[in-house]
Amino acid sequence: MADIRLVDIVKKYGAAVAVPRQSLTIEDGEFLVLLGPSGCGKTTTMRMIAGLEDITEGDIFVGDVRVNDLPPKDRDIAMVFQNYGLYPHMTVADNIAYPLKLRGVSRKERREQARLTAEKVELGPYLDRRPAELSGGQRQRVALARAIIRRPKLFLMDEPLSNLDAKLRVTMRAELKHLHHELGITTVYVTHDQTEAMTLASRIAILNRGEIVQLDTPERIYSDPADTFVAGFIGNPAMNLIEGRLKNGVFEAPATRISGIQADLEGSVILGIRPEHLTIADSGPISGKIYANELLGDSTLVTLREASSHICARGPADFRRELGAEVSFIPTKDARLYVFDATDGKQLSAQLF
Ligand SMILES: Nc1ncnc2c1ncn2[C@@H]1O[C@H](COP(=O)(O)OP(=O)(O)O)[C@@H](O)[C@H]1O
Ligand SMILES: [Mg+2]
Repeated sequence: MADIRLVDIVKKYGAAVAVPRQSLTIEDGEFLVLLGPSGCGKTTTMRMIAGLEDITEGDIFVGDVRVNDLPPKDRDIAMVFQNYGLYPHMTVADNIAYPLKLRGVSRKERREQARLTAEKVELGPYLDRRPAELSGGQRQRVALARAIIRRPKLFLMDEPLSNLDAKLRVTMRAELKHLHHELGITTVYVTHDQTEAMTLASRIAILNRGEIVQLDTPERIYSDPADTFVAGFIGNPAMNLIEGRLKNGVFEAPATRISGIQADLEGSVILGIRPEHLTIADSGPISGKIYANELLGDSTLVTLREASSHICARGPADFRRELGAEVSFIPTKDARLYVFDATDGKQLSAQLF
């Protein structure tokens, strides 16, 4: 096993830049998630690592070996895509064992390996079915088993759960996490779903317009976002980002007046605070009329709207107030307030006093 290094890689299609200059090291054994909106170059990056796409500029190394010119079959990489790409006329067992057939493994050995691998993804009873006789989740697990059976050096997974319904996605997420723990195979996983990224990753690389804006552990991405793009992408619901002015340690915006904030910059800033760090009260530094109440079961999301800002707090499950009622939010004792530069969105170093 070895780490994988992308060094200054660029991908252009004619004059169009699909991936701007990008460098990234994937550590041996880690589960790295590339998270970003559609069109930001995630699939292209994966295909370059796999060798399915030429690299316009830059190098890819596996350990010390430069693999730019190695064909896909010599890179020891298995890919799982959003479209499972199963062979419809083959049984589950034959689909799973297909990579072994290409290697010339005997029929008996293939059957045995397929059985063992199918058990890992709970497909044991389905070995003789065809893909059309399976649910979406089961088909996805066949694709996964077909990747696992190869014991590759690297897994590349490109939005593998996005065709599944919400409940199945949660189950499969846990299965993927467990499998990674069990097999320890280095994995690069692409998604636009922040919950998937947070739950699966050992590290997340967040992409904005093809550039990596932050590469960090999920904990740090949540607790210390580099800019408003990251802050607004992570968390469910995402961090409140309130545009206003900071002057002499006092932040002011429509509906909001919070004092005691010291930051590197005063003037136009964006104040960030997470909904889970606001409690609901009759008076407090953030006040307004209730715009929406959303019961989630274990809590209620309460949104205030004042001028153009929507500010959301996570309140108790039994919170009951009419829409339009006046209410206030107070930062909790352990709340962290973030201050971002309104011009470029970068997080400023800030302190409360
Ligand atoms: N074969 C291609 N020819 C031209 N442009 C492409 C091709 N493949 C992808 N692109 C462009 O490259 C950019 C990145 O695409 P992609 O890597 O698929 O993004 P993502 O997977 O993040 O949604 C997009 O603007 C897309 O239109
Ligand atoms: Mg894609």
